[in-house]
Amino acid sequence: MWIGLYFLLIRLDMLTKIKSFTVDSLSVEVYPSASVLAENVAKVVQVYLRSLLERHGKARILLATGSSQIEFLNILIGLGEIDWSKITCFHLDEYLGISADHPASFRRYMREKVERRINLEKFHYIEGDAEEPFQQSDRYSKLLKSQPIDLCCLGLGENGHLGFNDPSVANFEDTYDVKLVKLDDINRQQQVKQGNFPDIEKVPQYAFTVTLPMICRAEKIICLAPETRKAKVVKQMLQGEITTKCPATILRKQPQASLFLDIDSASLL
Ligand code: GLP
Repeated sequence: MWIGLYFLLIRLDMLTKIKSFTVDSLSVEVYPSASVLAENVAKVVQVYLRSLLERHGKARILLATGSSQIEFLNILIGLGEIDWSKITCFHLDEYLGISADHPASFRRYMREKVERRINLEKFHYIEGDAEEPFQQSDRYSKLLKSQPIDLCCLGLGENGHLGFNDPSVANFEDTYDVKLVKLDDINRQQQVKQGNFPDIEKVPQYAFTVTLPMICRAEKIICLAPETRKAKVVKQMLQGEITTKCPATILRKQPQASLFLDIDSASLL
């Protein structure tokens, strides 16, 4: 019995966050591993969505792609007890000129990892291959703006981007809610490393992104940034100045935002 209790205590300890602190208005939590981080964020989001549905009967959420989201989304969906039929989803970004079936398409990612597995009210997609890209940005802006966004889940780019707001195009005062942007080379290289494309030449040069002010209008913002490859940018995000050179620094001005790190991404703090 004592041995069982001992292992239970070890397990509980592993599930606990290592530390939490704030940087300006941003809450930061550090977990012992990427899996424990994903498990904890999934529970936070489950509780939040359930309380939203109890209070308002519906919710609108904005989701990110990337490897940081996969385990979190998987656990969240597996937890159950969320009435997805009252939830409308949006996503943050999509490459220009890519079809919904392209292996790197963010619509495909969302369809396979989210939409196909639950019974949503609706998933609104950015049609990356629309014939009129500017009309597409306009259409998506109107959908996003029509009612508040209750929750925005984010990943953190290796160059500090949120969505596809790279340092070269990020604007804290953007008047657009969705825009077409040119991707920088660090970002395009990240897409190759993540296995989305065989080489940088194949990565589209342009993409649609929800802008920073639109992201910041969400009622709650959750940014997941595990892994050693994020350690440098996490340090810059939390210890550098607030500037579009590291677009994610805008989260330090958002009291509704939380950043979730693992021990590896927090290793340079
Ligand atoms: C891509 C997406 C972003 C995402 C980022 C983070 O570049 N455009 O929306 O947040 O990757 O990637 P990862 O989660 O793999 O670290």
